[in-house]
Amino acid sequence: MASSSSARSSYWLVSGLALVLGAAIVNQAEARAFFVFGDSLVDSGNNNYLTTTARADSPPYGIDYPTHRATGRFSNGFNIPDLISQQIGSESPLPYLSPELRGQKLLVGANFASAGIGILNDTGIQFINIIRMYRQLEYFHQYQQRVGALIGAGKAKRLVSQALILLTVGGNDFVNNYYLIPYSARSRQYNLPDYVKFLISEYKKLLMKLYNLGARRVLVTGTGPMGCVPAELAMRSTNGGCSAELQRAAALYNPQLECMIIEVNRKIGSDVFVAANTHRMHNDFVRNPQAYGPYNGLGLCTILSNLCPNRDLYAFWDAFHPSEKANKIIAQQILTGSAQYMKPLNLSTIMALDSRT
Ligand SMILES: *[C@@H]1O[C@H](CO)[C@@H](O)[C@H](O)[C@H]1NC(C)=O
Ligand SMILES: *[C@@H]1O[C@H](CO)[C@@H](O)[C@H](O)[C@H]1NC(C)=O
Repeated sequence: MASSSSARSSYWLVSGLALVLGAAIVNQAEARAFFVFGDSLVDSGNNNYLTTTARADSPPYGIDYPTHRATGRFSNGFNIPDLISQQIGSESPLPYLSPELRGQKLLVGANFASAGIGILNDTGIQFINIIRMYRQLEYFHQYQQRVGALIGAGKAKRLVSQALILLTVGGNDFVNNYYLIPYSARSRQYNLPDYVKFLISEYKKLLMKLYNLGARRVLVTGTGPMGCVPAELAMRSTNGGCSAELQRAAALYNPQLECMIIEVNRKIGSDVFVAANTHRMHNDFVRNPQAYGPYNGLGLCTILSNLCPNRDLYAFWDAFHPSEKANKIIAQQILTGSAQYMKPLNLSTIMALDSRT
C-alpha cells in the first residue's frame, strides 16, 4: 500500500496497531484491495446467483447483520472476510457474481468464494452448480482484465500485487466428499493419510496458480475442528464428544498444510503465503471458554435447537459455521496472533511491512 513519507516516518515514532488502522482509514481511497477465495466460511453471497442448495439467502441467516437481512453469508452477522476488511480499513468486497460489482467498486476487490466447494473438483457435487476453485481462479483472471480496462493494465497489476488475499478451503473435502457417505468413492480409493497427501498436493497447485495470477499476500486458513461442529456431533458422536475420525483428519491435514506453505514460500523466495491456524483458534474457545469471558463457546447452538436468543454466547451459528462472535475471535487472532497461530507473520505485521514499500 502506498503511503506518504510523513505517514511513514510517524509510523516509526508511534508504533502500534491503532496507527496502522488509522492510516488505512485515512488512505481509504487507496486502501489495498482484498480478494477472497474458498467455501461457505468466506462466501459473501455468490451462491445467491446460482442454482444450488448451498445457500444462505433466507432468514435466520443475517439476523445480526447491520441490515438484519440474509445476504448469502453463512453467519448470523459478519463473516471473517467482513472483519478482515474492517481491519484493513476498507469496505467488504462484493461477491464476484453481484451485478453491483462494476466501476469503482471493482477497485475494492472481489469475493470469489462459493459455498460447498473444496480443493478437489469432485467435492460438493451434490450442490450441483457451485464455483469450484479452478473457476474461481478463472474469474480472478477475468476480473483483472476488467480492472485493466478501467484503470490500465499496469495499475491493475499493481492493485493485485499489493492486495491482501484470503483463501479458505479444505473442510468440504472431508465432510462433503471423503466422509459424506460411508464407503464414498474417495474413501475407497485412499486411506486417510494418503487422501490428506493427495489434497495437499492438489492444494499446492492451486497456490501456485494464484501466485502466477499475481497474488503476493495470501492468508491461508486450515480447517477448523471439523469433528466438533454441531452437524458432526449430531451425526457421528455416540457420547456427545467430537467425532474422532474427523478430528484425526484435521490433525493430519493442518500440520501438512503449514509445511507445504513454508515449502512453497521457500521455493518462491518470499513470504507470499501465510498459514492461519484456525484449528487452534477455534479449539481455544471451544475448549477453554473461561478465557473468553462471558462470551464463552460452551453452549452449542445445535441443529435441533430453535434460534438461540443471544448468539454471542455460542461458538457455532448453524450446523457447520461459526457465529459472528467466534468469527471476531478468529479475525483478532489473524490480526495479532503469535507464531503459534500465524506463520510466519500476522496481519498487523503484514500491514506494517507492506505500508513501507
Ligand atoms: C480440476 O479441474 C481443472 C479444470 O477444470 C483441471 O485443470 C484439473 O486438472 C482438475 N483436477 C483434477 C485433480 O482432476
Ligand atoms: C503479531 O502482532 C503483534 C502486534 O499486534 C506483535 O507484537 C507480534 O509480535 C506479532 N506476532 C508475529 C508472530 O508476527
